Amino acid sequence: MKNTILKIIITSSILLGANSHAADQPDYPENYRSWTHIKSMTLHKGHALENPFLGIHHVYGNKAAVAGTKSGHFEDGSVLVFDLLQSVTKDKASVEGERVLIGVMSKDSSKYKTTSGWGFEGFKGNSKTERLVTDDGTSCYSCHTSQKENDYVFTQWRK
Ligand code: HEC
Repeated sequence: MKNTILKIIITSSILLGANSHAADQPDYPENYRSWTHIKSMTLHKGHALENPFLGIHHVYGNKAAVAGTKSGHFEDGSVLVFDLLQSVTKDKASVEGERVLIGVMSKDSSKYKTTSGWGFEGFKGNSKTERLVTDDGTSCYSCHTSQKENDYVFTQWRK
């Protein structure tokens, strides 16, 4: 009896584990540091998005995503990365510290129907496996909907 209960508990936690992040959120974007750097921004203490986006972030895009930041329309296969590092200020200079997280947006209109074709995922620190999104990207998406006119992307290409 005890064994059966244990088995049930183990089986359900494995099942729950498998479902704890979205069915099929984007994978770690291998090699994104060699993609195109599109823009950077620093959020300081007191900024509305300081939790969890305090620090220096850089936005990278693959080829399709870069085209999207110019046209405002993103083809399937577009991937954008939000690379967040601590900002360390010393001797009147701010430099990059440890990586806090990366955020990923990946366009696949057939896969991510409920979030307008975008899959959202986060990876903690330098990890390629520690995923941060547990709600199918709904909370990421809800903030990105303010950019509906621009295909849910804030970043635009500058000359
Ligand atoms: C409360 C609002 C908010 C939430 C929630 C949010 N973001 Fe964003 N996100 C932004 C803003 C604002 C920018 C633009 C930053 C800039 O201009 O450099 C951005 C930029 C990005 C970018 C670069 C592409 C773009 O749209 O400019 C990615 C990738 C990204 N976010 C992923 C995520 C992921 C993944 C999540 C959920 C884990 C998430 N975001 C949650 C506000 C949000």
